[in-house]
Amino acid sequence: MQTTKNTILITGGSTGIGLAMAETFVKAGNEVLICGRRESKLLEAKRKVPQLHTRICDIANKSEREELYRWTTSEFPHINMLFNNAGIQKEIDFLTGAPGLYDDESEIETNLAASIHLSALFIPYFLQQKKECAVVNITSGLAFVPLKIVPVYCATKAGLHSFTMSLRSQLAKTNVHVFEIAPPIVKTELHREAKARKQSQRGIPASTVAKAALKALKNNQYETIVGQAKVLKGASRIAPGFFHHLLNKVAAGQ
Ligand SMILES: NC(=O)c1ccc[n+]([C@@H]2O[C@H](COP(=O)([O-])OP(=O)(O)OC[C@H]3O[C@@H](n4cnc5c(N)ncnc54)[C@H](OP(=O)(O)O)[C@@H]3O)[C@@H](O)[C@H]2O)c1
Repeated sequence: MQTTKNTILITGGSTGIGLAMAETFVKAGNEVLICGRRESKLLEAKRKVPQLHTRICDIANKSEREELYRWTTSEFPHINMLFNNAGIQKEIDFLTGAPGLYDDESEIETNLAASIHLSALFIPYFLQQKKECAVVNITSGLAFVPLKIVPVYCATKAGLHSFTMSLRSQLAKTNVHVFEIAPPIVKTELHREAKARKQSQRGIPASTVAKAALKALKNNQYETIVGQAKVLKGASRIAPGFFHHLLNKVAAGQ
């Protein structure tokens, strides 16, 4: 695909991987819109990359998603790419009644339902564009082998991986290309609970994922598994139960 002169909406583009992709795609000559819930983070992002357009939006809320679609298509009618990137991760313990499952933030709404609904909103608009368009879903290596401490997160990413494959098949003969980028562990705010427990923060820089996303679009490489996430994808084919056990032991430091 062409990776310049696109108009791109990146959900959750104010920090981490979303911001790195926003910066990379602006540098490559694209117009980039980002959204998020915290105005302070959107303003910080705009200070770092002044060309960005920003919008406050909670994508976990259905009517806010619809409003985001209306705003985007009326203010930026040339929009031709949607990056479903916004995500949250929670440690949820089903032994203690799953606290956090239904508090103020829902992983199912943010990571999965919003990506599906925003795709449903934007795809009919993209199908009418007279140029190539893209839906880019950010999944995770944990879509392939789950980590038990974040069970709902892993389920949402496995679900998004599955949805992405079906969507790609449905749109195969159209102008809308469907990409999946599955990062390994990346140094971002996502792991705030582990950080709060003073676990050292591991992971690759967000800029590495952003570069991989740009390359994937350029080469029409529809499924891009970044770095060590490849090990998890391979493992899920060979011996999923064994690697699930091993991953959880490694994560627990045993
Ligand atoms: N970090 C990793 O190790 C890793 C690995 C694999 C995949 N990923 C995926 O990469 C994506 C980006 O995560 P990240 O690592 O860059 O974490 P991050 O720095 O925490 O970024 C998440 C972004 O999503 C936004 N967001 C969260 N909930 C939202 C909502 N309801 N509405 C609108 N925006 C929302 C956040 O802004 P506000 O809080 O201001 O809304 C933030 O800008 C996620 O889908 C994540 O699952 C990350």
